[in-house]
Amino acid sequence: MKRFVFLIHPRDGKDVGRVKRLLWTKILPEKIVEKILFRLPPVVCSRFNVFNKTEGFLVAVPLTARQMLGLPLEFVRKRILEAALFAQNKLGAELIGLGALISSMTKKGIWLSERAEIEVPVTHGDSYAVGVTIEAIEKITSLVGNSVIGIVGAYGLIGSALSRLLHKKSLELVLVGRNEVKLKRLEKELKKINSQNRPMISKWIVDINKADIVITTTNASDAILKPEYLKPNAIIYDIAQPRNVSFQLLKERPDVIYIDGGLANINGINLGFKMGTPQRATFSCLAETILQALEDDEESHVGEISLEFVKEVRHRAEKYGFSHAEFTCFGKPIPILNEEKPKILTYLEVKNLEAKKTIS
Ligand SMILES: NC(=O)c1ccc[n+]([C@@H]2O[C@H](COP(=O)([O-])OP(=O)(O)OC[C@H]3O[C@@H](n4cnc5c(N)ncnc54)[C@H](OP(=O)(O)O)[C@@H]3O)[C@@H](O)[C@H]2O)c1
Repeated sequence: MKRFVFLIHPRDGKDVGRVKRLLWTKILPEKIVEKILFRLPPVVCSRFNVFNKTEGFLVAVPLTARQMLGLPLEFVRKRILEAALFAQNKLGAELIGLGALISSMTKKGIWLSERAEIEVPVTHGDSYAVGVTIEAIEKITSLVGNSVIGIVGAYGLIGSALSRLLHKKSLELVLVGRNEVKLKRLEKELKKINSQNRPMISKWIVDINKADIVITTTNASDAILKPEYLKPNAIIYDIAQPRNVSFQLLKERPDVIYIDGGLANINGINLGFKMGTPQRATFSCLAETILQALEDDEESHVGEISLEFVKEVRHRAEKYGFSHAEFTCFGKPIPILNEEKPKILTYLEVKNLEAKKTIS
């Protein structure tokens, strides 16, 4: 049976306590937990079977998001390589998938796949993140009608593929990134795809206030979206892990709808480890790695995302019954009401509904 390993890492100190043998770290302050992680070897979090066709392992690189972004890149990459070699040489992985910030830290996976010691294919899994996001945007726009779509992190790996795809569809876009040179490069690329429409390009995140739907897909370690940046009744689709939006924002802006982004429903697969995703759902990069193992695809999928491959991954997903996960807001389902006049509920409306249910 084909074996694959999906590399993950804790988003923060709290995530570390999800590993049974590290449960005790829950009582320690984050700074101490990070010091402990510094010394740990890669951690096997679970081993699971997929349709009796392939076997997967979740292996953690013991560094939080803050450490990944704050420690010297060389050191972070050394720890990632260590985990990848453990996966390949000790666990017998024939495919390695990259979770959360591991793709960002390895130049979209290219750095890792080019190491002479790595003999197996590597995938960043971000093509399906783009696939499920497009599925979500199609669903949301079918509910709320034509919308201006904003992307924060527009020239990143996922952001640029989304920008290209949505621009190709002639949708009205606001594309935000903090580096002007990279923004200009993206603008040029988009012009080649479709010269009829001109997206708004900005290095100021406040310009996101022109968007009805805001997609956040940066590798920032903290929440970067502020309540004052958002248009009334904006819909946020947050792909980032760690999240780019805090729960506090929803308290300050109860008119806003927040959707946990980039999640896939992987029917009938028990991962044997809780990564903080809603029931039956998992991260799309893991879902793509599973699909690649099921299809026995022996190529590496790293670097820029090809829109052709996004299509291919969506076909694979359909074949195995994977799709966008149920819409949730910080893990809580967002009911879509009234068949004739469907409506996505805001956080406040969900709370009110829940309160009514409790009373009755
Ligand atoms: N939900 C899922 O299943 C799933 C799947 C895959 C990935 N992800 C998450 O998706 C996110 C993006 O992944 P990726 O592979 O596309 O990463 P990436 O290629 O590294 O792109 C991230 C982009 O974010 C930008 N950025 C960082 N801080 C910013 C800020 N404060 N304001 C504006 N832009 C900022 C960076 O631009 P600069 O050049 O300016 O630094 C970079 O271009 C990550 O959080 C990752 O963990 C989630």
